[in-house]
Amino acid sequence: MSTPLPPLSSIPPEIVSVEDYEALARQRLDDPVWAYLSGGAGDETTLRENRAAFGRVRLSPRLLRDFRGAHTRLHLAGTDYEHPVFLAPTAAHRLFHPEGEIATALGAAAMEAPLVVSTQASLPLEDIARSASGPLWFQLYIQRDRDFTADLVRRAEACGCKALVVTADAPLSGLRNREQRAGFRLPDGVASANLQGLRLPAPSDRIFGGELLDAAPTWKDLDWLLSLTDLPVFVKGILDPEDARIAVEQGMSGIVVSNHGGRTLDTLPATLDALPRVAGSVEGRVPILLDGGIRRGTDVFKALALGARAVMIGRPYLCGLAAAGALGVAHVLKLLRSELEVTMALAGARSLDEITSVSLWPS
Ligand code: FNR
Ligand code: LAC
Repeated sequence: MSTPLPPLSSIPPEIVSVEDYEALARQRLDDPVWAYLSGGAGDETTLRENRAAFGRVRLSPRLLRDFRGAHTRLHLAGTDYEHPVFLAPTAAHRLFHPEGEIATALGAAAMEAPLVVSTQASLPLEDIARSASGPLWFQLYIQRDRDFTADLVRRAEACGCKALVVTADAPLSGLRNREQRAGFRLPDGVASANLQGLRLPAPSDRIFGGELLDAAPTWKDLDWLLSLTDLPVFVKGILDPEDARIAVEQGMSGIVVSNHGGRTLDTLPATLDALPRVAGSVEGRVPILLDGGIRRGTDVFKALALGARAVMIGRPYLCGLAAAGALGVAHVLKLLRSELEVTMALAGARSLDEITSVSLWPS
C-alpha cells in the first residue's frame, strides 16, 4: 500500500454523505488499522446485515403539516439532548488521529452530541473531560480486578459523565479474521490509558478454563455496579428479549441494542431486526438505544420508528476523525443531523415523539 496521507484541514465540497468519509479515511490509515476499524467477526455476515436491514424498510410520506416549532430534542436519563445521534464507545482513537479522543470530543461538542468514552480510550478520561465542553458518558468494561473497576466508576463520576454504558457482549474478543490477516496490533505509543496499572490476564490459548472467561462479569456484577453508583447505567449488547427483561428487572436505566458493530459473534441478527422484539419486552419501562450500521438520517428515523429513543454511530465518526480530526467528526454528525431533519420534514414528524411505526410503509 502507499504511505498514509496526513489528515485534511478542510472538508472537500464533494464530501456530501457519511459514506463519502470511508475513502478519505482509508487513504489516511495503514492496512492493519483500516482492518481494525472496518472489519467484523468471522465472515462479516452480521456486519453486512446491519446495513442491509435498514435497506429493507420503506418510509411513508406525510404531507402538508405545519412545521413551525419542529425540533429533534429529547430528554434521556435525566439530561436534555439536542438530537438523538450519539457517539458510540470505540477504543484507541490515537490509532486514527494524533489528537485521539480529544479531537473526537471537540467535534462531538461542536455538534452537541454526547461522546461515550471507551474504557479502552487512548487518553486519560480526565484529559478528555477537561477539553470537552459537551456531555460525556463512560463505557465500562468490568475488569477482573473489581477494585480497579470501582475506581474507573469513581473517575467517571468525578469527570461529570452523565451515564455509564456497561458493555456485556464482549467478555472476550470476537474472531476477527480480517484483523488477523492484516496483522493488526496496537502500535507502540498507543495504549489503554485508563487501564494503566491493571494486571491483565496472561495471553493464553485457553478459552474455557482460561483466566479471561472465568473472570467475565455476570448479572450479579451489574447488581454490584448499581450499588456502587447513582449514575444511570445502560447495558450494551442486548439483542434477546429475555436479556432485555432481566436488565429492566435488575434496575438498569436503559438498554443498548447492539451487536458490537458485527465485531463479536458473527451471524447474530441485524440490530434493526432485533429491535422490535426487545422493544416489545421492555414495554417502554426504560429507554432503548440502538447502534450498528447507522449511515443515514433515514436509518436514524427507522430505528426511532421501531422503538429506539436514540442511536449511536461508531465507524462513521472514526472515519471522520481519520479524515480530518475534530472537523471530520463534527461534519459527520452535521450530515446525520441534517439528514434526520430532512427525513422528518418529508415524513411528517415534527418531533422525535411523532416518529412511530406509522411512519413506516407496511411491509
Ligand atoms: C467498537 N465498539 C466498541 N464497543 C465498546 O463497548 N467498547 C469499545 O471499546 C469498542 N471499541 C470499538 C472499536 C472500533 C474500531 C469499532 C468499529 C467499534 C463497538 C461500538 O461501540 C458500536 O457498537 C459499533 O461500532 C456500532 O456499529 P457501527 O456504527 O460501527 O456500524
Ligand atoms: C473492539 C473492542 C475494543 O470492538 O470492543 O475493538
